[in-house]
Amino acid sequence: MILWSPTAIDLEKLYQSWAKSVAYPARLRYSETMRVLGIETSCDETAAAIVDDDRRVLSNVVLSQLDDHRPFGGVVPEIAARAHLTHLDGIIEKALTDADIGFEGLDAVAATTGPGLIGGVMVGAITAKAIALARGLPFVAVNHLEGHALTARLTNAVEFPYLLLLVSGGHCQLLAVEGVGRYTRYGTTVDDAVGEAFDKTAKLLGLGFPGGPAVERAATQASNPKAFDLPRPMAGKPHCDFSFSGLKSAVRRHCDALQPRSDGTYAPEDVQNLAAGFQQAAADVLADRTRRAADRFIKDYGSGVLVVAGGVAANQTLRVALENAANDAGMGFAAPPPGLCTDNGAMIAWAGLERFRLGRQDPLDFKARPRWPLDDPSLAVDDTIEGASI
Ligand code: KG4
Ligand code: ZN
Repeated sequence: MILWSPTAIDLEKLYQSWAKSVAYPARLRYSETMRVLGIETSCDETAAAIVDDDRRVLSNVVLSQLDDHRPFGGVVPEIAARAHLTHLDGIIEKALTDADIGFEGLDAVAATTGPGLIGGVMVGAITAKAIALARGLPFVAVNHLEGHALTARLTNAVEFPYLLLLVSGGHCQLLAVEGVGRYTRYGTTVDDAVGEAFDKTAKLLGLGFPGGPAVERAATQASNPKAFDLPRPMAGKPHCDFSFSGLKSAVRRHCDALQPRSDGTYAPEDVQNLAAGFQQAAADVLADRTRRAADRFIKDYGSGVLVVAGGVAANQTLRVALENAANDAGMGFAAPPPGLCTDNGAMIAWAGLERFRLGRQDPLDFKARPRWPLDDPSLAVDDTIEGASI
């Protein structure tokens, strides 16, 4: 006679209780320093890092795949996934060596499980799960955007709540960050992300790939950043949304009106001036929208800090424009160092650590997600549990 035939729900419960028992030794070690390995493979950087809860980055290894993708003028998902597979083991080994610890010195392993290019995300997530299983470590699934969002807490010890401008290759959002996993979206782009606009502008100007740093470099050489008239889409609007397609089209129209030289390129002076004009227009609209969001944030929370994060936050002109916006609004300002704005493993390790020390870990069948918005309720963490520390 069959007394008990486990259903999927029973098995999930069993799994959860097993997973909890795995977590306990790590939670007991909480009075000592907690160390987390973070793995990032969602786009074209293969990265691993170890951080501790004293906000120290013990190692941070980033392998850029730029040379693999450059001939194609952009990231090719299949090439990215294969390159992650080839290099990730060595990158993790180097992260451990640089931090001078072994797997036994870790309390948890975290990996980006989305959003991003799904082949690459799966390589990183499966590797982290395999380490977790083999070493009896808790696995923490990290939303890549949350990695960017929480980095300023690692680098600048920013406290909740804060206003976040998240600017990357795929996202452009203003959010109130209330806690780990707790985000309220104030505004987002209605078309392109600002990083995408930088990349497309670079392509139009023949500056190559990746676009953002190339546009910034060209802009520093500009003789007249006001030589080209460029729009500020959405500036002055009462909401907090963005639009960048009009700005991109304006750059294209200016390019079409220029006389290319015999080799098809434009005169360096025109390229530099157009790059500077685009960069200033992008910074102006980002600052304008952020001022609007700052008004709302101050109404909602009193005062606070403006944080800028994501790859585009590496841009110096933008940082200056945002710092001014924060000053005008009577808010503090924090931006991680440029190397921690672009994709890296430390941001994933830190977000994993923040989630883990609130008691959060994830099952080994956690699914990788190509799309995963930051205000998704699944990200919420109960930070009211006893012993949870922020
Ligand atoms: O956060 P990230 O490294 O990857 C994504 O999650 O998308 O952001 C990449 C984006 C690219 O569009 C890149 O051109 C842009 O960030 N970026 C910059 C700069 N450095 C990277 N944009 C403007 N100025 C920069 N210095
Ligand atoms: Zn990113």
